[in-house]
Order: sequence, then C-alpha cells, then structure tokens
Amino acid sequence: MKADVLLGLQWGDEGKGKIVDVLTGNYDIIARFQGGPNAGHTLEFDGIKHVLHTIPSGIFHKGIINLIGNGVVIDPVIFEKEIIGLEKLNLEISELLISKKAHLILPTHKLLDAASEQAKGKNKIGSTLKGIGPTYMDKTGRNGLRVGDIASNNFLEKYNKLKNKHIELLKFYDFEYDLVDLEKTWFESLETLKKYKHIESEHYIHNELKNGKKILAEGAQGTLLDIDFGSYPFVTSSNTIAAGACTGLGIAPNQIKDVFGIFKAYCTRVGSGPFPTELNDSIGAHLAKIGNEFGATTGRPRRCGWIDLPALKYAININGVTQLMMMKSDVLSGINKIKVCTHYEFKECGTRIDYLPFEDNTNLKPIYKELEGWNMNLMNLKNLNEAPKEVHDYISFLEKELNTPIKIISVGPDRKQTFFR
Ligand code: GDP
Ligand code: IMO
Ligand code: MG
Repeated sequence: MKADVLLGLQWGDEGKGKIVDVLTGNYDIIARFQGGPNAGHTLEFDGIKHVLHTIPSGIFHKGIINLIGNGVVIDPVIFEKEIIGLEKLNLEISELLISKKAHLILPTHKLLDAASEQAKGKNKIGSTLKGIGPTYMDKTGRNGLRVGDIASNNFLEKYNKLKNKHIELLKFYDFEYDLVDLEKTWFESLETLKKYKHIESEHYIHNELKNGKKILAEGAQGTLLDIDFGSYPFVTSSNTIAAGACTGLGIAPNQIKDVFGIFKAYCTRVGSGPFPTELNDSIGAHLAKIGNEFGATTGRPRRCGWIDLPALKYAININGVTQLMMMKSDVLSGINKIKVCTHYEFKECGTRIDYLPFEDNTNLKPIYKELEGWNMNLMNLKNLNEAPKEVHDYISFLEKELNTPIKIISVGPDRKQTFFR
C-alpha cells in the first residue's frame, strides 16, 4: 500500500484539520510530518469545535493510529495542554504514537524566538513565537534534543548544555526574561509526553505500508510558507511541501500515491510578508468577517485577498498535487463580482508574468479576471447540484486553469458541510 499526503497550497489555515478529519475514515494511520505548535488545525463536528496544534487531526476516530513524525517539533507544555483539552471533551480518542526522532522545543527556544522577533522590529516575520525557528536551527545545527533523548541517563546534562548555549545567545539581545517558572512547567509537562509510546516511526511506517495499511500524511502551514519555496524570509522553518512527508516520516517518494492540495476559495495570510492579491478595502474586511479569519493559534486577524492562480499553480507543481480541495466556498456568497488573479505585472516596468518571481513580491500588481458572484448562502446546501450556476462556473474556471480536478468543495466548518465531486 502507498501513502497519501494532504497539505496546504497557500499561506496556511486552508482547512487541513477539517479535511483530515473528514478523510480519516479511509485510513489506518494519520501522521503529521512537519511543523509544530505554530499550527492550529480546527475540527468541527456534533457541535464541538476543537483546535489541534501538535496532535494529528485523526485523533477523534477511535481505532486508528495517530503518529507525530520525526519532522515535527514538540513543545511538551503545549502538548500537555492539548491532551488535557482532549480529555475534557470526554470523547473516545484514538491511539497516539510519537517519533523518537522528533525534536523538542525548549523554553529557551521560545525566548530566542521572541528576542529575535523583537530585534527585527518592523521587519519581523510575524512568527507565532512558539520557538519553531530556533528549534529547527538547532536541528540543522546538530545541537537539538530529541524525544528519544528523554529516556537517556544524561538527559538533564544534554538539556543544560543546550539551555546554556541559548543563555549565551540571549545575551546578544536586549531582551529580559525569567526562566525559572518556564522551566518548572516544562519539566512537569514532560511527564505527560513520557506517557505516550516513543517509537522509531520510520520502521513502523515501512512495516505498516508492507502490511497493507493506509497512511495519510498531514502537513502543517502551507506551500507559500515553505522554508525553500515560500516567500522567504517571511516563511516558517520547515519544508511544508510534499517532499516534507518523505523527510518528516521516512516515506520514500515512490511510496506516495495521491497528493491532496487544499486551498481557500480566496486567500489569507497571518504575519508579515508579500501578499500580491491582498485587499485592504471593504471586500477584504467582508471576507475576514464572514470567514471569521482569526488565527487558530494566536488569534491574530488574518489578512484577506482574492484567489491567486499563479501562486496556486506554483504550489501544485512543487507538490505534484493530484487532487484539489476548495475550502470556504460559502464565504464568497454575497459578493457581486469575484476576482481571480491570473497574472502579475511588475509595478515599475509593467512586464507581465505568470509565475512568482524571486524578486521582491511586494512589487507585483495582480491582473484579474472577473467572474459573476452569487447570493445564495451555501452553508445549508444538501447537494452541490443545488448551488447556483455561478458557483459551478467558478469551480470549472479554476479547475480548467489549474489543470487538476477539484474533488472536494467545503461550504462550512462542520464535517457535514463537505461535498465530494
Ligand atoms: P488549518 O490550519 O489548515 O487546519 O485551518 P484552520 O483551522 O487554521 O483555519 C480554517 C478555519 O476555517 C477554521 O476555523 C475552520 O473551522 C474553518 N473552516 C474550514 N472549512 C470551512 C468552510 O468550508 N467554510 C467556513 N466558513 N469555514 C471553514
Ligand atoms: P497551520 O498549520 C498560518 C506563519 C506565521 C508567520 C510565519 C512564521 O495552522 O496552517 P513561525 O511561528 O513558524 O516562526 O511563523 O508563518 N505561520 C502560519 N500561518 N497557519 C499556520 O499553520 C502557520 N504557522 C506559521 O504567522 O508569518
Ligand atoms: Mg491553522
């Protein structure tokens, strides 16, 4: 059996959590492959709304396995909070396994994240301040602490060595902090992390694939936040693309079958960085309001804009997307004319391009095609056929432009507000 991958094609928050939950019934194992608690994946069912940060979005399906892969970075404090949040819901949840090779976010990683953002001033990335960048830096710098280290006799020694290195680095910043309480909480929370099975997850995955088990790899963030291919430096610190499922789980490229690419019917972005189709007008405010566009992790307002086809085509190519899923289609209801960005022009010279260039993306003027909008509220549709013609025209136009089938249309946050085509 081969694995499928599900990932975001824009700047994150496309609705990955919802769709992983919807698709979980088709799989035996749901495995997160990168990112950390910078992610906020929202699920809604039976009147319950729940946000996951580190735990895979298959957790509400009893009988399947959820795996936190080696590519993920884990903050024990946030992990414990997530576990307590799940326990409070009093629902039957599925089994959770954790890779021994996943890296740990230390309290001092979070301090370094905050200190570095503060020092950047108006050029800040707009990080979620969860310690993601500094933790991946220690991973690639070969200094990191991993989940498997927790069981070693000299764990405390390793922890202190890394902490002391961070304390030295913090001296370069004009940044005040108090570590005592943060460390106490961190070590207390580590006890919760210890209760879960820490495994060599790549072997587990290889065996389960051989045994014919079906695996869905769950991405976090989105392609335009990828460390290599995103709008650098306004990106996250991991590979959010399909290749991230290979390095973040140990799945070989030829073991991947479908790549599900999720996008919103428009665009959003949290934090700083270029956003060619951003709308700083009443339509942008309307999308934010109707789409309830506030970050699931930080609560920050999300910037909103029209859908961006050159950016989507880029993401489809980089990921080898085989099926598309369009989310939040309901949010476009009530807009008279819907714009779709088909090209860009460099602001200064007017040269037209149909791809995201290396050069400063804030200098791109989007060129739009206008499509007819619709008024009907789509959230209560029982069947996609009942949707107005303009909705079908919008879907067909995107499908043709993107040259990839759109297999799911989502019209609300609940599991049930999902249509398969
Ligand atoms: P993720 O990070 O990709 O999992 O997405 P988030 O959970 O951060 O953000 C998506 C938000 O949109 C959440 O609040 C979801 O409940 C909500 N959502 C998902 N699909 C739809 C949809 O089709 N329509 C509407 N109105 N909301 C949706
Ligand atoms: P999900 O999985 C949206 C953004 C931050 C910031 C940049 C770097 O819910 O889609 P980081 O904390 O990684 O150093 O932040 O990336 N960002 C996200 N935006 N959704 C996310 O995750 C994000 N994770 C990080 O806002 O601009
Ligand atoms: Mg999110």
